[in-house]
Amino acid sequence: MTRIMIIVGSVRPGRVGLSVAEWVRDRIQESLDGDGDGDAASLDLVDLAELNLPFLDEPHHPAKRAYTKPHTVAWSERVSAADAVVLVSPEYNHSYSPALKNAIDFLFTEWAHKPVAVVSYGGASAGTRGAAALAPVLASVGLVKVAANPEINFIGTRMIDGVFQGDDKLGGTVATMTRMLVETSEALKPLR
Ligand SMILES: Cc1cc2nc3c(=O)[nH]c(=O)nc-3n(C[C@H](O)[C@H](O)[C@H](O)COP(=O)(O)O)c2cc1C
Repeated sequence: MTRIMIIVGSVRPGRVGLSVAEWVRDRIQESLDGDGDGDAASLDLVDLAELNLPFLDEPHHPAKRAYTKPHTVAWSERVSAADAVVLVSPEYNHSYSPALKNAIDFLFTEWAHKPVAVVSYGGASAGTRGAAALAPVLASVGLVKVAANPEINFIGTRMIDGVFQGDDKLGGTVATMTRMLVETSEALKPLR
């Protein structure tokens, strides 16, 4: 059983991120079902707007796991339960979203030795500058980035009535990403 956590990086009203993440989640599920692996994985969609973490408000470095707030303990337990992570990341001013950074910074060892993939979206550059800015942050907490990068350009043109319209090409990249997450999760399991 591979437990894949999908995190929606955008929390703003009018965001497209939740719809993009729901589409990605459904493609991951289809890809697992197609491989006969559907029962071998469970998906947890984390909406950071719903999670509603405050700005990091813990007095100790998270590596100590000396958490003082119930929201940190709950977030720690939820991330600990995941074997692999997908970040659905908008690009803001050539970087990634502050909500995503805050959610990552709250924890430390909970992320270690887990594969991660970034689904980026934005304008002409498909959010790739944001994804590049994320990479060293992910490495610093021990997340292991897989090679597949689902990248979505001109996001505004791919929405109809607030619903993201993906295509087969992107679906194929999400399937490759899913296979890499499952394989890498298995390989890293002894280290977790
Ligand atoms: C504060 C802000 C900064 C942005 N900066 C960029 C940018 O640097 N590059 C880009 O391609 N799109 C940029 N955009 C456009 C976003 O890609 C687009 O608004 C997208 O819908 C944001 O994702 P969200 O709706 O899920 O929040 C920016 C949008 C906002 C709100």
